[in-house]
Amino acid sequence: MLVHFPIALLFTAWVLDVWTYRRANLLREQTGLLILTLGLLSLGATIVAGAIAAHEVLVTATTAPLLAAHEHAAMLTAILVLGATIGRYRARALWRRQAPLTQVTLAAPRRPMTAATRRAWRWALAAELASFAAITVTGTLGGQMVYDHGLGVAVTTASPRPAAQVSLAGPRRPGSGSTRPGAATADVSATISAGQQIWQTTCAACHGSPPPFTAAFVTRMGARSLITFISQRMPPSQPVTPHQAQQIVTYLQAQSP
Ligand code: HEC
Repeated sequence: MLVHFPIALLFTAWVLDVWTYRRANLLREQTGLLILTLGLLSLGATIVAGAIAAHEVLVTATTAPLLAAHEHAAMLTAILVLGATIGRYRARALWRRQAPLTQVTLAAPRRPMTAATRRAWRWALAAELASFAAITVTGTLGGQMVYDHGLGVAVTTASPRPAAQVSLAGPRRPGSGSTRPGAATADVSATISAGQQIWQTTCAACHGSPPPFTAAFVTRMGARSLITFISQRMPPSQPVTPHQAQQIVTYLQAQSP
């Protein structure tokens, strides 16, 4: 999983920076900062990838709150990592300003820190540790969605189409990713048949049956914006509830293109 990169990088940066704080070594300081910056960049990439995946994922009553919690945790993590990186650059600048570089020999690139520099370092180290904790929680929430609820993992549904492969996050190679689909399948099939029922009674009169809107359509619109659209506008006379709209969208996601 992509999230392992920023986790490993942030942890390595933290270890190096603690070491630098204890034994003021300039070369190690540079390495630590480089790795922290890479951690920030890879976290950005992970969040973008996560946002794209969330766009395609099946939203059910069980998974919607998990998705939301994961998103909030990811935002908090991003803010913390950004803060830690800024604090770390500030601690570096303070330290560099203390004395001219010429006093430092390459053989022993040490430079004792003043009290003010040490304080800035301690803040940066605390922020790095908090970032590391936050990203671990975020990664765990993401893992729960994938492994406990089958989000992002292909699940075979029993209804409404016995042979249909419902892909929860775009096409997957068969056998890619282990899954415990029992609970997820039950949850998904119940949602799909509820959605089908609402479609027949509330939407089919105008839009026909089977629905002209398929999984590809849901992906193009984005599941959550489609749920909002339906709960505000469909049917035009008296729109369905957000919960019903979510069930309809899950049903539409089960329609092959
Ligand atoms: C009374 C007829 C009527 C009913 C019932 C109705 N719709 Fe619609 N629907 C329309 C019309 C007309 C439009 C196009 C105009 C608009 O966007 O408001 C539309 C547009 C849509 C669109 C956008 C299509 C696109 O290509 O952008 C979706 C999705 C949709 N309806 C879903 C539903 C769902 C789901 C239901 C049932 C909960 C439903 N509709 C019930 C008349 C209806």
